[in-house]
Parts: sequence; C-alpha cells; structure tokens
Amino acid sequence: MDRIRIRGGKPLSGTIPIGGAKNAALPLMTAALLSEEPLTLRHVPVLADITTLSHLLVQHGAAVTMVGARTPHEHGHALKIDARNIISTTAPYDLVRRMRASVLVLGPLLARCGEARVSLPGGCAIGTRPVDLHIKGLEALGAKIELKQGYIHAQAPPGLKGAQFIFPKVSVGATENLLMAASLAEGETVLVNAAREPEIVDLAICLNAMGAKITGAGSDRITITGVKKLHGAEHDIIPDRIEAGTFVLAAAISQGDVMVSDCQPEHIAALTVKMQRAGAEVDETQAGALRVRCTGRPKAIDMTTEEYPGFATDLQAQYMAWMTVAHGITFVTETIFENRFMHALELARMGATIRIEGRQAIVAGEDQLMGAQVQASDLRASASLVLAALVAKGETTIDRVYHMDRGYERIEEKLAAVGANIQRITTQTTVHAGAEA
Ligand code: EPU
Repeated sequence: MDRIRIRGGKPLSGTIPIGGAKNAALPLMTAALLSEEPLTLRHVPVLADITTLSHLLVQHGAAVTMVGARTPHEHGHALKIDARNIISTTAPYDLVRRMRASVLVLGPLLARCGEARVSLPGGCAIGTRPVDLHIKGLEALGAKIELKQGYIHAQAPPGLKGAQFIFPKVSVGATENLLMAASLAEGETVLVNAAREPEIVDLAICLNAMGAKITGAGSDRITITGVKKLHGAEHDIIPDRIEAGTFVLAAAISQGDVMVSDCQPEHIAALTVKMQRAGAEVDETQAGALRVRCTGRPKAIDMTTEEYPGFATDLQAQYMAWMTVAHGITFVTETIFENRFMHALELARMGATIRIEGRQAIVAGEDQLMGAQVQASDLRASASLVLAALVAKGETTIDRVYHMDRGYERIEEKLAAVGANIQRITTQTTVHAGAEA
C-alpha cells in the first residue's frame, strides 16, 4: 500500500501543467457504447478510475486501445474505444462498486441495445448518493425499470421516446446519462434544471461530433433531437478544473509563485475570486494559464459549495486546508454531499481547529500546522492532506494514497517538479475498492 511523505515549509515555484479532466473522460468513454464506430479520446488522464472503466467497457465487448506511444514523463494518453459488438449489457457489482461513475453505462446501453442491467452502486465515503434521478429520467423516456437483487434492470424494446424531464434536483451524472440516452431516442427530449458543469458541455460537444443534435448544453435547459445512429469521432478532453484548482491552492498554501498551465481559468472562477479576496494574487497572465502568488497567511473567507458555476464541492476539502492557516474564522458550508467533511478530523491531527455542525465546518485559523501521520478517506480529502502537509512544520505521512491515485495523475511528480519535498513510499501492491467519484 503506497504512502506519501511530505516535509513541509518549502514555497513552490515553477510551472505545473494540468491534464485532461477525469470527470469529463468517464462519461465520454461510456458515450463510445452509443456507436458501432470507434471513438478516439485525446488527453485521457492515466488514473485508476479510467482503468476501472476500461475494464467495464471491455466486459461489454468494446475494444479499448491506447493510440500512439507514450513517453515515461508524458501525462495523459489517447484512447480508442471500438464498441462495434456489444456482447453483454450487464455491468456487474464487482466493477460498479469500485467506481460509481460506472452507472453511466446505463443510458448508452439502454439506448443502443434496448436493455441494460447495471448494479446499484451503493453509498460511499462522502454520502448516500442514490441514483433515483437517473432512473426517473430514463423512465420519462419510456424505459421500464425494475430494481431486483441489487441491480437496475432497464428495458425499452421498442426504443426510447423523447420527452420533457424536469430534474427535481441538479445531478451531473443523471444529466449525462439522459443526454446520452436521448441522443438515440425517437423525437425531441428537453432536460429542464439540467446540470451546467463544463463536463456536460464537453460531452455534448463530443456527442454532436458523433452526429447527435444537442443544443443548450451549459445552460439549465438542454434540447436533444434523437437520431437513428451515431458515428465515430475524435475528441480532445477539456483540462481538469479540479486538478487545476488543487494546484492553485497548493501554490497559495505553500506561499509560493507558480504558473498553473494548460487549464481553463474560467472553469475555476468561483475559487480564484475567493482566493483573491483572501489575499492571494491569481492572474491569467497568458491564455490558459494562471500565475498564483501568495505571501503570508490568507484572510478567512467563508465559502459555500454549489453546483457549477458556484464553488465546486470537489474543491471544498482543499480550500478548507488553506483556511486552517487563515487569520480569523471561516465558515465552510457543504450543500452537495451530506458527509463530505471526513478530512476535517485528519486536518485536526495536524493541528487544525475545526468544528463540524451539520453541513457546516467552522475553521479557526492557526499560525502553524504540524506534520503528522494521517490517512485519506476519499479522493479530494487526500488532496487536502497533501496541501496541509506542504505548509506544516516537519514531516507528514499520508496513508491510503490509492484514493488519490483515482483522480490525480502523478501528483507527487508534479509537486516535486516545483520544489516540494515529497516522496511516494511503495511497500506492497494491493487492490482496493473505493467509490466516491
Ligand atoms: N443525487 C440524487 N439522486 C441521483 C443522483 C444524485 O439524490 O439520482 C444527489 C447526490 O447524492 C448528491 C447530488 O445529487 O447529493 C449531486 O450528485 P451528482 O449526481 O451531481 O454527482 P455525481 O454525478 O455522482 C459528479 C462527480 C463528483 C462530483 C459531483 C458533484 C463524476 C464522475 N463525479 O458526481 O466527483 O463531486 O458530480 O459535482 O463526474 C470527485 O471527482 O471527487 C467526485 C466525487
């Protein structure tokens, strides 16, 4: 089981390049199931979650191949997914429990094959995370769905039919599933109160390149005119806004001077505006790059997570890490997931003062964090511990790094390249199940 060891106190300096977005890559990979022709995706990050989904797609009958050679220090790669023959419409528990995003095969399989049997993902470290909206949305398109023995059995033998569906609550994954399913439904579908995340826009762009007819992605009302077939396409995945936000915060907490390059700054505007108010200098000095400079401790600035374009829940833990050394008291409110404060207890082990009251964390800034042995509970929690360790006095060891490997490609290499004193300690290889993404 790998661990990360960090000696804090070094201001970061240099350039950190951002890779392709994990949360865009996952739905895009499942979109390949919609067509008999291959889909080629570029800038796919090399992550445990991508491997898990590749295994699932192969199990459905798709051929997943890496396109072109990859040098040892290159980040990301191109994947070609050829789903000419679907040999199974079942997504088994063993693969789905490892990664919740596996439920994104439901819409494409149902739309293309008229049936799908997908294991219910179950809860995870950050919340109960039901999939009722995915199910209700597909039912609105005419699917017959039963829940039996832990599986979602969905059928639509005559094919799906376009309809209007109003999401009672905004859901990224359910919007993605419906977007894909409706692309092959008969007639027009209108999704109201749809998610507006950049990953939704990226999916719509790719589906349109495959021949779909989608308008309005990026707004809360998306219209899809179904087509009979989708064809192959090539698509460049957008940069990972959560990776970018994590490194922007890493630069600030270490009191460094860092260029975060190959990103889309507007995707993390909710974060950078807060950071400027807290005293960091964050400037788009050139297109697609943010220069971050920070001296001293930040001012405490309250934050509430929201759906895009609000402050991303996937950056809440990392922002909280920065606020543990702020001047003053910060109120951090989590509105998306009901149990996403597991990192608070570990940050407390490093000397942070945090009180949890329901969906709110009250953080009293300290002069100094102290290195400690801590453990990651989920993907973004692990990133928050890395950030805290960068500013803590002495050595921090982070256990259960496999959570981090699900969503950050070679984070220790990227941080070491800008001066962090960070090492990965590999003791033995173990396969782990986790499901928060
Ligand atoms: N929800 C329901 N019913 C549903 C679906 C969602 O009640 O059928 C609830 C969830 O329990 C949650 C809220 O709605 O409270 C939002 O969930 P959403 O469906 O938007 O999240 P998701 O699609 O499961 C994606 C990301 C998450 C990210 C959230 C919110 C992927 C693969 N995962 O999850 O990413 O936190 O959107 O932005 O895109 C991560 O990368 O660390 C991660 C957890």
